[in-house]
Amino acid sequence: MTTLITGGTLVSATGRGAADVLVDGERVAAVLAPGSTVLGVDLPARVDRVIDATGKYVIPGGVDAHTHMELPFGGTAASDTFETGTRAAAWGGTTTIIDFAVQRAGERVQDGLAAWHAKAAGNCAIDYAFHQIIGGVDDDSLKAMEGLVDEGITSYKLFMAYPGVFYSDDAQIVRAMQKAADLGLLTMMHAENGPAIDVLAAQLVEAGKTAPYYHGVARAWQLEEEATHRAIMLADLTRAPLYVVHVSAKQAVAQLAAARDAGQNVFGETCPQYLYLSLEEQLGAPGFEGAKWVCSTPLRSRAEGHQDHMWRALRTNDLQMVSTDHCPFCMTGQKDLGLGDFRAIPNGIGSVEHRMDLLYQGVVTGQITLERWVELTSTTPARMFGLYGAKGVIAPGADADIVVYDPAGRTTISAATHHMSMDHSAWEGFEVDGAIDLVMSRGRVVVEGGAYHGRPGHGRYLKRGLSQYLV
Ligand code: URP
Ligand code: ZN
Ligand code: ZN
Ligand code: ZN
Repeated sequence: MTTLITGGTLVSATGRGAADVLVDGERVAAVLAPGSTVLGVDLPARVDRVIDATGKYVIPGGVDAHTHMELPFGGTAASDTFETGTRAAAWGGTTTIIDFAVQRAGERVQDGLAAWHAKAAGNCAIDYAFHQIIGGVDDDSLKAMEGLVDEGITSYKLFMAYPGVFYSDDAQIVRAMQKAADLGLLTMMHAENGPAIDVLAAQLVEAGKTAPYYHGVARAWQLEEEATHRAIMLADLTRAPLYVVHVSAKQAVAQLAAARDAGQNVFGETCPQYLYLSLEEQLGAPGFEGAKWVCSTPLRSRAEGHQDHMWRALRTNDLQMVSTDHCPFCMTGQKDLGLGDFRAIPNGIGSVEHRMDLLYQGVVTGQITLERWVELTSTTPARMFGLYGAKGVIAPGADADIVVYDPAGRTTISAATHHMSMDHSAWEGFEVDGAIDLVMSRGRVVVEGGAYHGRPGHGRYLKRGLSQYLV
């Protein structure tokens, strides 16, 4: 099967221009000047299918490097399975996810990883890879980290938050980072001071402050800044490259920027929710509504300017990429576990379907360039996590993961029309300029003209190489 995508503007992380893309089977065969002929014959006459992308952008499929399909968390489990979550991702122009396999204290890393393979295998609409959560750093899990690279897992996540769940203390962090530095693994850090948060949260509940808003009060920016700083210092000490996940506080960005300025190999991601949503407007919504937006790190104060600062950091490369931290829970039967006590609201927001669209608004408003949009959502995630070449780029030999994006389109986000397994949307009523027109995953059209053509099991497990940001 050969396909020619013709007439569009090809956008990469480094430039844009009129170009045709020839796809042969699962791969990109050639990127050609418009109207190219082969041995004097027009290409459209030689291919099985022609896709007209006139007036549209042709970009590499999105790589969402932070999702939690089916994650058991907060007394329940994230409501998207690998089947529903990867289908929703495809609808939104994301053609690769990197999800987090989980090891908890007392469990074997190998068993946690096997459990994640069992959940995902045969169910994914798009290609997928894993990071490994190490929720219990001890002699056994440190030893098991030695086997991760062979499994195609070249990054792992530690938590300075969630005592009693995934939490690591400083001693555990140092030991894991030393091991990671030896092995070439990239350390991903949830940087919030969990023990201090738990003290504040208990005091708030004691004082009758139980509404979702107080989730954001307890998880103060000082505790994100402090943990980010500590993670950076421990990474410096151990010579471990560091990637801080879901950054939301402008003060945490300043810590990352200072470390980068000092020459340290540290990186940060933010998520769409931290670019658009706030403590005041969403977490502070009347009654229990704010539960929809309970996630960690929390939404920050707009009065303090965190959201604008995140956009700025994406522009200046103080933050390098945008992932969703997709971890959806329904209001009924899940978020409502925390009626009367915000501490019991399962933490997470679902956005895997909307990341490409939401970031594109930064292009529309002039906050980032088209090229930066592609870089933040596809190329850098692929390079950061050892997928580049196959993913993150449209070039001969790359997987034909391609999105045709219509800048003239317009979408209104709603739970009534989204494809995620959620009874509400964190983005209800958001009006988005631009629209996904066509999505191709390894040469197969999975979304086209508002119809879904994908299937569970098309998506393959990707063994990742080492991060291309290691030095
Ligand atoms: O609220 C969040 N972020 N839930 C998912 C787990 C995590 O910490 O990434
Ligand atoms: Zn986290
Ligand atoms: Zn210090
Ligand atoms: Zn997460």
